[in-house]
Amino acid sequence: MNVLLIGGGGREHALAWALSASPLLTKLYAAPGNAGIAELAACVALNTADHAAVLRFIAENRINFVVVGPEAPLVAGLADALTAAGIKHFGPSKAAAQLEGSKGFTKDLCREAGIPTAAYGRFNDADSAKAYLASQAVPIVVKADGLAAGKGVVVATTRAEAEAAIEACFAGAFGAAGAEVVIEEFLEGEEASFFALCDGKTALALATAQDHKRVGDGDTGPNTGGMGAYSPAPIMTPDMCARTMDEIINPTVRTMAARGTPFKGVLFAGLMITAQGPKLIEYNVRFGDPETQVLMTRLQSDLLAAMVATSDGVLDHFDLRWRNEVALTVVLAAKGYPGTPEKGTEIRGLDAAGSVPDVEIFHAGTRRDGERILADGGRVLNVTALGASVAEAQARAYEAIAKIDWPGGFCRHDIGWRAVAREKQGV
Ligand code: AMP
Ligand code: GLY
Repeated sequence: MNVLLIGGGGREHALAWALSASPLLTKLYAAPGNAGIAELAACVALNTADHAAVLRFIAENRINFVVVGPEAPLVAGLADALTAAGIKHFGPSKAAAQLEGSKGFTKDLCREAGIPTAAYGRFNDADSAKAYLASQAVPIVVKADGLAAGKGVVVATTRAEAEAAIEACFAGAFGAAGAEVVIEEFLEGEEASFFALCDGKTALALATAQDHKRVGDGDTGPNTGGMGAYSPAPIMTPDMCARTMDEIINPTVRTMAARGTPFKGVLFAGLMITAQGPKLIEYNVRFGDPETQVLMTRLQSDLLAAMVATSDGVLDHFDLRWRNEVALTVVLAAKGYPGTPEKGTEIRGLDAAGSVPDVEIFHAGTRRDGERILADGGRVLNVTALGASVAEAQARAYEAIAKIDWPGGFCRHDIGWRAVAREKQGV
């Protein structure tokens, strides 16, 4: 099969790496890709918002299957354009992508299907939002309804902070994404990422992961897209995974199908594991970044076959195998991230770092300039290692990072700390 992969981050490099191992693959294209993906795929410039241009490229290059990495093209309806043209693909329709595109949509679905989640209200103006706030306890969470690149959420510890967040949303801090506001009860517990392939009727659980959202060691500083991750998430015991499937994922799949908008693709549930069990914080309609880097490192089965089975609606006859080892990835970011990252600095030593056993380096934001690899984004590299324990995978990842010569970058030094501490305590 000729496959077109949409996206150019670390998630897409990990997907390209897994797709490349498939015996079903003839040729892989990536749009736009990056310097790492270019080792595995033909990288092409394609405006994915221009559906006609994407369809022309597909016809000219005899593409048989399209994999959509990021959420924005899905929320914009790229999958619908592919369906209309009869092109097989991995990724949900515009209607089903509302599970990520509108937080209020997902909260209402949870209410309808009885899915455990934080209590909430939806508001179209600041006055009604503030009136609701006055009746609630703090801490409380204020969210822009739409896609805000991970920036539209404020966990407010005081009422004044919550009011400021409400005002900022309605004043246009997140553009159209903030035209509606969701106010949520603050959930206490430990967060985990849960992934399931869904073919419209059947959901197949993938592996679990945990990421580190804060930029600084000890989970301090501003939120980011994720500074590192590991898989499996120790808190996701077999019982917790079964509850997540029964109480959250399966009711979602059933409700979306009953509404006539079946979900096909990967459902990424951001969970809070509370004293009462798993509760849904949010859905994403795509793979996580950097969680995919650790999932793909552990996946033994053929990713492309799994994606085709998802698209064909035959997941009830499908199974996946995973390595028992732990995978851990550390994000190397350009100085300035998550604010304004410095672009164009040179990265050396990648070959030496990549030759550490059981280490894979995924590029997240790089470009090639002749023989040189240059930083070209906020999150730039994902150094990913396998190990018999979290501590071993962590040690391997940092051993590889020590060989990378990049004065323009930085990373956290404690990725996996919670799981390493658990291992030390033997729990
Ligand atoms: P989201 O973009 O909805 O995943 O929110 C970003 C982060 O905000 C989450 O990963 C949580 O750390 C935090 N968060 C969001 N909603 C809640 C909630 N209801 N209770 C506690 N923390 C939350
Ligand atoms: N790492 C979180 C996300 O991909 O949204």
